Amino acid sequence: MPLFSKTQKTAVDFAHLPRHVAIIMDGNGRWAKAKGMPRTAGHAAGAENFRTIATYCKDIGIEYLTVYAFSTENWKRPVEEVSTIMDLLRKYLLEAIEKMERDRVKMRFFGDLSPLPEELRKLCLRTEEISTHYEGCQVNICLNYGGRDEILRAARSFAARCAAGEQTPEELTEEVFSQGLWSAGIPDPDLMIRPGGEERVSNFLLWQSAYAEYYFTKVNWPDFSKEELRKALSAYQSRQRRYGGI
Ligand code: FPP
Repeated sequence: MPLFSKTQKTAVDFAHLPRHVAIIMDGNGRWAKAKGMPRTAGHAAGAENFRTIATYCKDIGIEYLTVYAFSTENWKRPVEEVSTIMDLLRKYLLEAIEKMERDRVKMRFFGDLSPLPEELRKLCLRTEEISTHYEGCQVNICLNYGGRDEILRAARSFAARCAAGEQTPEELTEEVFSQGLWSAGIPDPDLMIRPGGEERVSNFLLWQSAYAEYYFTKVNWPDFSKEELRKALSAYQSRQRRYGGI
């Protein structure tokens, strides 16, 4: 696939890409409404766009891509909408498993998978297992994920180790705490993208995003094309990261 096509208008320095890009895939419902279609059609278009963007990230050499597919709060949506999203995920994973040997994309899931439909939960675990040894791009799908929930779980597990006499409170460092998160072992995101026009964090990667650069755009997720991603990468490259220094 050519990386430099005629449609590429935005200049990106592909030698200095962010290692880890995270995306809140927002605006599916509004995209569908604007077209007079049901919200579920927006999610289908969103899932399709996820394929396009994940493949592009792999092709240009992004090491980690983390996407917010379903939050701990999304269960409040109508049953039909929830089951459509679950079904889209199931279809996506079945397809990903087939292409895995060729693409060598490593897949991980962040979130408590236990309340998911049994078939989907098993597919998630199988996908993780098959791709354990792959060393290409790593795609992390946040499913039944909440940033505060993740922090609480890490805190609880450290407290339990203290109560069992295995660790002391003084031993708690940022590094030790990070090991209790779903993202253990993965570098923090450098660039967080939120399409869909809202400018908030929505409980996504709260701990990990401490020094991330944010990029917001009004474009809805199904319309967030490769060119839109290049705009985000270019904006990221124009910023200076100081990590609290001067
Ligand atoms: C937010 O848009 C989107 C979601 C809550 C679901 C995202 C799910 C997918 C893209 C499908 C499955 C994913 C994969 C990885 C195959 P919204 O519904 O909140 O949009 P709105 O704000 O316009 O209503």
